[in-house]
Amino acid sequence: MRKFITLEGIEGVGKTSNLHYIQGLLELSGHSCVVTREPGGTLLGEALRELLLSHSDDSMSADAELLMMFAARAEHLNKVIRPALENNQTVLCDRFTEATYAYQGGGRQLDVDKISKLEVWVQEDLRPDLTLILDAPVEVGRARAGRRSEPDRIEKEHDAFFQRVRKAYINLAERYPHRICLINASVELDAVQLQIHKKLLEYNILIG
Ligand code: TMP
Repeated sequence: MRKFITLEGIEGVGKTSNLHYIQGLLELSGHSCVVTREPGGTLLGEALRELLLSHSDDSMSADAELLMMFAARAEHLNKVIRPALENNQTVLCDRFTEATYAYQGGGRQLDVDKISKLEVWVQEDLRPDLTLILDAPVEVGRARAGRRSEPDRIEKEHDAFFQRVRKAYINLAERYPHRICLINASVELDAVQLQIHKKLLEYNILIG
């Protein structure tokens, strides 16, 4: 039983702790898991991540940012995601193409058709079986993220940018309800985890 599961959300919504929680549930349920992230997951992808998130080029064009996200994704799909799925392993990925629709489409306001063309080019018909979007108001996420390390190039964006990112995520969940679900991440961690557990059962990803 192999599945392709992705986790999404704006900064500060608890992606890291919930990723570990999901991995634990999957492994208990007998999945052999490959846990990975975007941008990243390969040598080239991690090098692109460094370029994308560091402050060395604050004036990077939105098109360059979009193409680098998909360059990293193409490599990730070829070297990690597709081989794992073909090997009957479950892939749990910290962000995927829905992040591109949210950040480059919503945040940067790039033409969604461009993203969709790249999605079809790079992924063909491969889409995640389930995408969980941890959703909370921007102020809540930013207040939590603010307590951590120095913000990266994208985290440094203003609130209006993240409002658009959040809205784009909500729109994706409305548009593809059969594979994209919103999780209310404003509540306490155990209440968030309860919602996640329920979704994984509902999608027949966990046994029992
Ligand atoms: P994170 O995964 O550690 O939260 O950081 C990755 C950052 O990259 C985050 O700000 C979202 C951003 N990102 C995009 O803008 N587009 C994408 O397609 C992906 C995968 C991530």
